[in-house]
Amino acid sequence: MDKIIIEGGQTRLSGEVKIEGAKNAVLPLLAATILPTEGKTLLRNVPILSDVFTMNNVVRGLNIQVDFDQAKNEILVDARGPILDEAPYEYVSQMRASIVVLGPILARQGHAKVSMPGGCTIGSRPIDLHLKGLELMGAEIHQEGGDITAKADKLKGATIYMDFPSVGATQNLMMAATLADGVTVIENAAREPEIVDLAILLNKMGADVKGAGTETLTITGVKELHGAEHDVVQDRIEAGTFMVAAAMTSGNVLIKDAIWEHNRPLLAKLMEMGVKATEEKGGIRIQANRDQLKPVTVKTLPHPGFPTDMQAQFTALMAVVKGESTMIETVFENRFQHLEEMRRMGLHLEILRETALIHGGQQLQGAPVMSTDLRASAALILTGMVAEGKTVVSKLNHLDRGYYQFHEKLKALGAKIERVSEDSHG
Ligand code: EPZ
Repeated sequence: MDKIIIEGGQTRLSGEVKIEGAKNAVLPLLAATILPTEGKTLLRNVPILSDVFTMNNVVRGLNIQVDFDQAKNEILVDARGPILDEAPYEYVSQMRASIVVLGPILARQGHAKVSMPGGCTIGSRPIDLHLKGLELMGAEIHQEGGDITAKADKLKGATIYMDFPSVGATQNLMMAATLADGVTVIENAAREPEIVDLAILLNKMGADVKGAGTETLTITGVKELHGAEHDVVQDRIEAGTFMVAAAMTSGNVLIKDAIWEHNRPLLAKLMEMGVKATEEKGGIRIQANRDQLKPVTVKTLPHPGFPTDMQAQFTALMAVVKGESTMIETVFENRFQHLEEMRRMGLHLEILRETALIHGGQQLQGAPVMSTDLRASAALILTGMVAEGKTVVSKLNHLDRGYYQFHEKLKALGAKIERVSEDSHG
């Protein structure tokens, strides 16, 4: 496994950076390609990430043809033939997000078997809301031997009130409802831009999904779906990660093709601190003088609240802003592990359950650190840019799940950063 070495200090990022298609959009979009029984589906602007390879294998495991043309960032899916209804454990166990194939397989086949996704370092990641919604639509759900089996000759439209606006559960139920008998109403649904992107593809396939982006979705079932073409929406979290990188290095960076509307909660917080954010025709420009930035309080919430996927990266910015900032993580129960690593770099902080008090502005020192999840990896690399001396970030498998050429992009903006194999003496 590789590691990343960063020479910190006075890095000031400048230039422009290209953003990829969204990981958290393309994974459910790939699950949706299971639904059409005629025509093929072409996804464009697909990011080259390990999670995409994993989801491609999950879909291939259903006897569906998946061709990933990496040179063109396109995936062509042909799901017309008879498909299998069991998602292979070897791939599902690699990535929790695979659970969103359950709804599409069940809707198309009347039977589905998917292994229970394991938890992960940021939380237990239950799927009770997924299963409760499918049961309300008439599915018979059993859990045995680590697998979930679901049966329903024909799913029926139902009104489902989500205890929590779960992104994955909303996606699973939305897809299942497209082929159900009658109308399904999902209340207190997730409102993330990736939910909207999925609804757009489903409607292109001939589904009838209304209300995506609001807290109430109305899906009227149809007989069958056909293939479609779709451009994956830009990755708002990758864009946000580079916005934070620019701010914490007193930089001046144009994040190309970033969508202001998708990043409003983050941009509001950055501007509250004193970061200059301007919408240009080519994207969003971020400029800052970090010595003049003010500490803030942030609470992560489902969209349109501040995204939990930006929490770790934002704590890195809080670490360089003089004064006491507060980060409250309300979505996942164990998503502060990167802060323990930043403590090793000299960051003063206290963690009181879901609240982290960060005493920013101290000069941080480079150190060997370990990443525990995808966004923590990015946060530690950003912190290495502003710490004095050398920082070595290991366990990059997490990073590669969600960031394409992350260190190359930072290097092109001026960071002193290298990626070497684990056993080299970097
Ligand atoms: C999606 O995960 C994202 N992943 C996550 O991004 C993101 O952090 C999360 O949404 C929240 O925005 C993908 O889209 C592939 P949830 P998901 O269901 O769908 C609880 C990243 O870094 N919950 O909205 O799993 C759950 O425990 C990843 O890119 C239940 O209680 O998120 C958690 O506390 C990390 N029961 C909260 O809801 C359920 O049935 C949010 O989970 C489902 C969820």
